[in-house]
Amino acid sequence: MPSPTGKPAFNPRMHQGGKLSFRARTDKSDEDPGDRLVFGGQDPAPLEELVPASFRDIEIEIGPGKGGFLLAATERQPAVFFLGIEAAPGYASLAASKLHSLRRQNGLLLIDNGKLYLEDRVPAASLRAVHVYYPDPWPKRRHAGRRFFTPEVPAMLARVLRDDGYLYVATDNAAYAGQIARVLGTAPELVRDRAEEERLLADGQGVAFSPTNFERKYQEEGRILRRYAFAKARQ
Ligand SMILES: C[S@@+](CC[C@H](N)C(=O)[O-])C[C@H]1O[C@@H](n2cnc3c(N)ncnc32)[C@H](O)[C@@H]1O
Repeated sequence: MPSPTGKPAFNPRMHQGGKLSFRARTDKSDEDPGDRLVFGGQDPAPLEELVPASFRDIEIEIGPGKGGFLLAATERQPAVFFLGIEAAPGYASLAASKLHSLRRQNGLLLIDNGKLYLEDRVPAASLRAVHVYYPDPWPKRRHAGRRFFTPEVPAMLARVLRDDGYLYVATDNAAYAGQIARVLGTAPELVRDRAEEERLLADGQGVAFSPTNFERKYQEEGRILRRYAFAKARQ
């Protein structure tokens, strides 16, 4: 968050796994995020401290932006806890304020680097799902390391997913879809489940894929949207 100089405070976590510190926009929102926003800082709380013990099913969304999916999912599935991990404080705060005003107790926003959080703050086999919708495609070659779906990610995801867990991904970007297909499609830890994709697309909003703010924008622009479901492979 902003330092006394008005500039975002330096956070080394945001420099790892994606150089995200440039995204540390200040929060100009007048909305109150109340108790639905947690600052990760340099030593974020582990998952078990963020999720009330009464929830048996936990799902994480990486990069929820303005929170369209979190809002719908927390309403449709009140028994499931949804943690949104967002690198941009302004977006995290905006999404948290919406949850707060609706008194949703099964959703929370954490400001952190989602990739690092999965790696070092989430216990093994603890998540029913990980959602990643319209991740930044970083089209320039020199920025490719900032993408979420790099080669180490399948093993990282397989560690945190339960045996019945799923990864859900959506992208509008053909080149990034190619990288996702290569990285996830060839990983022994994950297996694409087309029947699950069809089932969820028929199931409507708030379960997986939809709605998100970028989805709406891209649909209006007539772009082709690609949606994938990957199950954790049986060992
Ligand atoms: C293109 S936006 C998509 C937002 C939202 N998923 C949607 O579909 O409307 C990508 C979001 O991911 C966030 N982001 C990018 N890398 C991240 C990371 N490693 N951890 C957490 N958030 C990240 C960005 O700040 C941004 O809000």
